[in-house]
Amino acid sequence: MRTPIFAANWKMNHGPSQARAFMAAFLSAYSPRKDRSVVLFPPAISLTTVRDALGGRHDIVLGVQNIYKEDKGAFTGETSAPMAVDAGAKVALVGHSERRHVFGETDEQCAKKCAAAFRAGLTPMLCVGETLAQRESGDTESVVLRQLAAVVTTLAADQVARLVIAYEPVWAIGTGRNATPDDAAQVHAAIRRWFSSQSGAANDVPVLYGGSVNTKNAASLLAAPGVDGLLVGGASLDAEAWTAICRT
Ligand code: PGA
Repeated sequence: MRTPIFAANWKMNHGPSQARAFMAAFLSAYSPRKDRSVVLFPPAISLTTVRDALGGRHDIVLGVQNIYKEDKGAFTGETSAPMAVDAGAKVALVGHSERRHVFGETDEQCAKKCAAAFRAGLTPMLCVGETLAQRESGDTESVVLRQLAAVVTTLAADQVARLVIAYEPVWAIGTGRNATPDDAAQVHAAIRRWFSSQSGAANDVPVLYGGSVNTKNAASLLAAPGVDGLLVGGASLDAEAWTAICRT
């Protein structure tokens, strides 16, 4: 049994003032637990606020929502992996569906971002998932496995062993329409089978589910076979709801 991971993706919400207020409420409600990991992905501009609020709460890990593939230079508006590390991040989301579908990020860019994350000592949390049209045309597994292969085959075995995957069906993100535990279990099993078919690839890479997770469905999704944790957007913005989900 893997230790479940509860990850909060705040997206473009909670600037420094709101992040400070959220952390005060969350830290007073949620006590450290050894049987789970909690990861927070604030927007980059709030990373140091959340880091400072955490103080000695080493049970909670900080992550960055996006990084650029280069380490520094003339890339106005971008955040590099070493800068995210400097601000306290240990994990980087890569290939979130909004990055892929709103900002046009490709599998190739995701692979470069994972490489940048590893260079800086960040753990990449690679997001994969199919659109509604791809699901309806029966392409869910081929899309998800293509997105996985595009990145994983560029990595060294020791890097693959440190990777975290989040399966997030695009049609379930921010729509209130979550995958059923069975839908999630099927894709998680396909991901697991794919990892086992890769010679030398680690077989214990955690695979999180994300997409309209809330206080009501968190327990059943987490109980689905092969689901090692939850990546939560909207429901992670409210300290009370997020505390309840972290106690699932
Ligand atoms: P949601 O977002 O929980 O609001 O659907 C999940 C995510 O995008 O990571």
